[in-house]
Amino acid sequence: MNLPFSPAEVSKRLLSWYGREGRTLPWRENRDPYRIWLSEIMLQQTTVTAVIPYYERFLQRLPTIESLAAASLDDVISLWAGLGYYSRARNLHRAARQIVSEQGSFPDTLEGLLALPGIGRSTAGAILSIAFDTPAPILDGNVRRVLVRLFAWQEDPRSSRAEKQLWQWAEVLTPDEHSHDYAQAIMDLGATVCVPRTPLCESCPLRELCQAFKQDCATLLPVARKQVKLPIRRQVALLVKCSGDYLIRQRPTEGFLGGLWEFPVVEVSPEQNHRQSAEFLLADLGLTGDVCEADAVRHAYSHFKLELTVFSVEIETKTSVAEAGEYTWYSEDAMKRLPLHGAHKKVYSK
Ligand code: ADE
Repeated sequence: MNLPFSPAEVSKRLLSWYGREGRTLPWRENRDPYRIWLSEIMLQQTTVTAVIPYYERFLQRLPTIESLAAASLDDVISLWAGLGYYSRARNLHRAARQIVSEQGSFPDTLEGLLALPGIGRSTAGAILSIAFDTPAPILDGNVRRVLVRLFAWQEDPRSSRAEKQLWQWAEVLTPDEHSHDYAQAIMDLGATVCVPRTPLCESCPLRELCQAFKQDCATLLPVARKQVKLPIRRQVALLVKCSGDYLIRQRPTEGFLGGLWEFPVVEVSPEQNHRQSAEFLLADLGLTGDVCEADAVRHAYSHFKLELTVFSVEIETKTSVAEAGEYTWYSEDAMKRLPLHGAHKKVYSK
């Protein structure tokens, strides 16, 4: 492959920069694969700042892979509540059970890691490099941006052509030695220097090699993705209150927002009368009462926007709800300890 610089020059500069500027982070305290795996999963779609408190709390409760495998899925989801992308928590739990029951020790090969739910090529590369000091390329969001600029990739960085090219570059740049430091160095560079929109090129150890810097286009790369308009979904949620308790249910563990708790809710169309939908929902629960419009909540997910109209109703007796099955009464205190899903947490806090 024809490169505008030598890969050894890139890693030398990165490693020396990391020695000076690398961040002190809780998952860098030791090389326990369990801790490193957990951090990589949490960091897949979440920033370092948001992850740290969750990471520390999770490890306090579940300090070893054995304790994670022995925990209930509900406990794991509770520890995850607020971080989003809950399939990560479900996969983590499944993978821990798989490792403990089938293997006994944490896999230290690419194939072994890729066989676990929730671990793709980049996460496997990060775990191999960081926990086992084994060279393996990484291509997470931060590394992707660094490479796009370093090679001045002017096309859509999400195309399959880009994917192939970026992995090739990630691979040739990955040094045979110092894998533990190199992986964290390139991720840190992307997170702290080669940041989106306003990269800090004057502090960058790769500036003299960077093709985007040379062409004065670092701020323009990666090229912006075409804005796709997210579909809007509308729902009506009902806060049913009875002597200080609320009616909530746990969502099925598999699927979207699996295992999180929510108020009664129904999908509506823009034409539908929302109050009437709330009244029907109440009737479906076998309850009667005066429904009042309380608020409107907006929440954005990765693949749609949610507009939630919230109604509240105070009822006198809980009797018939027992037959509504999946819904249960919870005191405000008990409810606060359950992982409500994001939009419904907004409903409640409003
Ligand atoms: N992003 C993903 N993994 C990371 C790590 N180990 N350190 C810093 N940022 C990261």
